[in-house]
Amino acid sequence: MNILVTGGAGYIGSHTCVELLNAGYGVVVVDNLCNSNPKSLERVEELTGRKITFYRGDVRDKALMDKIFAENEIAAVIHFAGLKAVGESVAQPWRYYDNNLNSTLVLTKAMEEAGVKNIIFSSSATVYSGDNEMPLREDSRTGGCTNPYGWTKYMTEQILSGMCTADSSWSVALLRYFNPIGAHESGRIGEDPRGIPNNLMPFITQVAVGRREFLSVYGNDYPTPDGTGVRDYIHVVDLAKGHVAAVRYVTEHTGCEVFNLGTGVGYSVLEMVKTFERANNLTLPYKIVDRRPGDLPTCYADPSKSAEILGWRAEKNLEDMCRDSWRWQSRNPMGYAD
Ligand code: NAD
Ligand code: UD1
Repeated sequence: MNILVTGGAGYIGSHTCVELLNAGYGVVVVDNLCNSNPKSLERVEELTGRKITFYRGDVRDKALMDKIFAENEIAAVIHFAGLKAVGESVAQPWRYYDNNLNSTLVLTKAMEEAGVKNIIFSSSATVYSGDNEMPLREDSRTGGCTNPYGWTKYMTEQILSGMCTADSSWSVALLRYFNPIGAHESGRIGEDPRGIPNNLMPFITQVAVGRREFLSVYGNDYPTPDGTGVRDYIHVVDLAKGHVAAVRYVTEHTGCEVFNLGTGVGYSVLEMVKTFERANNLTLPYKIVDRRPGDLPTCYADPSKSAEILGWRAEKNLEDMCRDSWRWQSRNPMGYAD
């Protein structure tokens, strides 16, 4: 059974390709490499001993998508392709709406014409509104997004669920990721952000490897046990396995379902720093600075629906995440450019 993975050369996509190939699926990738390096796919092939069919191109290119569906028998699509930098989306809203929404519209049109109606979408915990009680459940309030990136996730959920309402033969899984970190335990694939990282773990690993002087901890006066922000960090390999479970689900059901992919446990920034130091036996210089605008004090999932319906739960702990992130960064100090 072949799975089309859009954005498969990226961070989460490459780890998901490994798990799909290991589970026996054929993998077809389309990626324009706007935020990734084709070496990731070579390394996926090396890790699994299996081949990937790769198309370099844009998901918004309808002729290309038609060609991919004509040349391959696809059972389901995992749609990772998209732009994901929150700050950049505020500066370049049109580019984000164009890329993230048009890619979904062109992809689903090509799917419909090819008779492929099973799709898994990379959504985010960012679609939940900021006034919810924790933990977040799939029926917690959504909307009130604070940036165009978040709105593209919200709107894509609306587009896909509307299509299911109109045509009951579609099968859609909207996966709301919490905070993916970590890397494959081989140290061969991992997160390779361009420019200065916005997210906590890539910043930590770049400090540890000497590319940055210290970590700025954004605020220690939040209403949390140690005053720093609390998040639900999930190992990217667990997240990738969640996609394999979702492939099984969409190929066996119809309709639209939302699933949280998180661990259900929140850790603070300082707990992360301490765990990273302990797991890797090093010291991480940090300074407490002002809060980052737009940050919530606390965010974590109730993952029980995914456990019940997908039969999936995260298995790796924070130490695993810290150790695997560091193995990737220390063996590839400049990411795939090494
Ligand atoms: P990533 O940037 O590493 O991967 C995205 C891939 O999509 C890249 O390889 C990029 O080149 C490709 N791409 C982008 N636009 C494209 C287009 N129009 N056509 C073809 N390819 C295109 O990001 P990631 O961290 O692997 O995230 C994957 C998905 O998960 C994204 O949709 C992202 O918004 C979502 N997500 C990520 C996180 C996170 O923290 N990493 C959290 C929640 C949701
Ligand atoms: C960010 C995005 C969110 C996106 C998510 C996953 C913002 C405002 N939100 O969320 O939309 O879905 O990533 O990609 O960008 N921190 C530091 N120092 C740093 C970096 C982060 O102290 O250098 C803290 C933050 O204040 C936060 C925690 O670490 O408490 C995690 O931050 P981050 O990795 O950026 O993820 P989110 O804030 O959850």
